Amino acid sequence: MDKINIAIDGPAAAGKSTIAKRVAAALNMIYVDTGAMYRAITFAHLNNKEIPFNELVNQLEIKLINEKGQRVLLNDEDITDRIRENDITENVSFVASQPEVRAFLVELQQMMTRDKGVVMDGRDIGTTVIPDAELKVYMIASVEERANRRLLDNESRGIASSYDQLIADISERDHLDMTRDISPLTKAEDAVSIDTTGLSIEHVTDKILSLAEERL
Ligand code: CDP
Ligand code: CDP
Repeated sequence: MDKINIAIDGPAAAGKSTIAKRVAAALNMIYVDTGAMYRAITFAHLNNKEIPFNELVNQLEIKLINEKGQRVLLNDEDITDRIRENDITENVSFVASQPEVRAFLVELQQMMTRDKGVVMDGRDIGTTVIPDAELKVYMIASVEERANRRLLDNESRGIASSYDQLIADISERDHLDMTRDISPLTKAEDAVSIDTTGLSIEHVTDKILSLAEERL
């Protein structure tokens, strides 16, 4: 097979986007961060709370530009850094539970994967967006390790947070994502589980690359 799609799902801060970016670069594939798309709609919602979701999504054009990592443009405004801030993180699971938001983004994501060659990370990629992906990975890590990782991420971005608050926030977001009505976070039956607790980025990347080579 000359082209495959790779779906990477899992809870917050499991290492999905870091690893997905490296896998995509190594295999010359396109990386798509679907969490950033839900965050972009959350940004629009917080600025326009009076607009119902079915109308809001029709006013939005989301672009992911592969430049200096991945830049996120909403109606041509660069919101890459803004969507990592606490108010977005606190509201994103609510916005992502809205049927109109999911329908809009899943359709967009399916268009992006139609020609294959995509590494896509999120919560419902292996179950809903690309159920026929050639490789599906379900990435997990202990909540303590995930909170520590996110603490470092936030420090480097200048975002205030504490370990205890992150444990609470991550646990709540995981719960909301796993229990929502539409395409909740769950492992696809045919996904390979990888527990990244205590594993280096290089180790996990190599493991996924060797799984991908088997499919290619
Ligand atoms: O990077 P982090 O793990 O903090 O989250 P993210 O990947 O940026 O995703 C933010 C939120 O978007 C998740 O907590 C989910 O509520 C939602 N999401 C989703 O519902 N479906 C996806 N495919 C991706 C993200
Ligand atoms: O995309 P997701 O929310 O699943 O996680 P991420 O943003 O890729 O990773 C969260 C943080 O954990 C990043 O700072 C990564 O560098 C770090 N990480 C790690 O320390 N060890 C790993 N095996 C994977 C990620």
